Amino acid sequence: MYIGIDLGTSSVKMILIDNYQKIIASTNSSLSVQSPKDGYYEQNPQEWINSTMECFDSLKLQKPNEFSETISIGISGHMHGATLIDKNGEVIRPCILWNDTRSHEECSEFENQRFDVRSISGNITMPGFTAPKINWIKKFERDNFNKIFKVLLPKDYLRFYLTGEYFSEMSDASGTLWLDIKKRKWSEKLLSCSFLEEKHMPNLVEGNEEAGILKNKLKEKLNFKYNVTVVGGAGDNAAAAAGMGIIEQSQSFISLGTSGVFFTPTQNFLSNTGDAVHSFCHCLPNKWHLMSVMLSASNCLDWICSITNTSISETLINVEKYFSNTNDLLNSSFFLPYLSGERTPHNDPYIRGSFHSMKTTTNSTNLQYAVIEGVSFGILDGINSILKVNHNFEKIFMVGGGSKSKFWIELLASLLNRKLSVCDQSEFGAALGVARLAMHVDDNINNKEDIIKEIKIINEHKPNLEKKDILLKRYKIWKDLYTSNKVLGPNLLS
Ligand code: XUL
Repeated sequence: MYIGIDLGTSSVKMILIDNYQKIIASTNSSLSVQSPKDGYYEQNPQEWINSTMECFDSLKLQKPNEFSETISIGISGHMHGATLIDKNGEVIRPCILWNDTRSHEECSEFENQRFDVRSISGNITMPGFTAPKINWIKKFERDNFNKIFKVLLPKDYLRFYLTGEYFSEMSDASGTLWLDIKKRKWSEKLLSCSFLEEKHMPNLVEGNEEAGILKNKLKEKLNFKYNVTVVGGAGDNAAAAAGMGIIEQSQSFISLGTSGVFFTPTQNFLSNTGDAVHSFCHCLPNKWHLMSVMLSASNCLDWICSITNTSISETLINVEKYFSNTNDLLNSSFFLPYLSGERTPHNDPYIRGSFHSMKTTTNSTNLQYAVIEGVSFGILDGINSILKVNHNFEKIFMVGGGSKSKFWIELLASLLNRKLSVCDQSEFGAALGVARLAMHVDDNINNKEDIIKEIKIINEHKPNLEKKDILLKRYKIWKDLYTSNKVLGPNLLS
């Protein structure tokens, strides 16, 4: 038996799988996010631990015998968060999250060096990444900076709680901006841009390698029979890719989660920093990936549903009807989905969401449609940025909360003019991915190459050509809306 833990932004999800990769128990426990100021997002790491322990208890209750047979654990997590640890192993301040944009000024300071930072980090420096957060802490919270003993990513802090050891792995470490992406090792040069040294970093392994053993105290508490190995694991997107078997360059996925992501593996290091494309290591040795990231995707839908007081399911039914009427579509208002700024392709921490072309006839269904359409346009923006450096992907899988909506996938298929595939168990994609990585340390498995296989497709959605033409016409207008609003962004923030 193997356990996959996915530390998401809004919940911890956990699965127990057997030797055939069948999910035999699953559970989740929700988490809160604090936003003390516009653009600030934080989480209390103690909540990650509490939720994880709750999930362990639930799996144990559901399948006590199988649970006790666990051999290894993989952990996935939301990326980039700065979890600061002092010399006693205590958390210094709440973790600053991936969608926090407070450190935008520190990004240019980080890059203002005598060497080309981007050529080593592979990425443009954005406030979501870990490095500029530390530069911000040094500037505004000097006492906290002085206490830093280790900087850990969220899932690596959870690992530290479980094993007492400081480890990270390549895929998540890529998003710190302190990793030499090509060489897959910490870069002293990049660390020095945040006034840190390699001693402040955890040890590095690949995602499928051992990275600690579960503490005895926890082994006894949870009633495990064996010494349970914890593997490196992966950042949430690389983990989701492993869960779907997306490790070859012909494959890719779109994730409609809190963030909106397009992800495709590459066989070597490629990058497009101009369009804020993310260029990271994959969670298996000698593999990399490109990724576009929108900061607000399905949370834009949650947001509009809550302020229009309509459930998501009702909204999707209404919007689908609305989408079938070409006349309505052509007259619909537009939405820029930048509720917390944007990464790919704009790298713009100042922009915020906005509706455009509102009329006396605009009703809540129209606004809801505009939101779904605006997020979809953002996904297309991301894919277009990746196409500038890489054309290798053919298959696109859908994953994340938004992928449960057949309507939304059909809209995207038409907009992208590509076939989109939905696969089994996508809700637990990242947890399954790291459970698969965990299987790699089981000596009883001979054919390790067969562990990460492509997951079964349950549905395929094809483009509707008439809708494609209308959507592309609207996409052009939508792009101009960003261009003309961009200049106003900084003036509108307090
Ligand atoms: C990736 C990113 C998000 C988070 C949260 O760069 O910031 O996908 O990992 O899911």
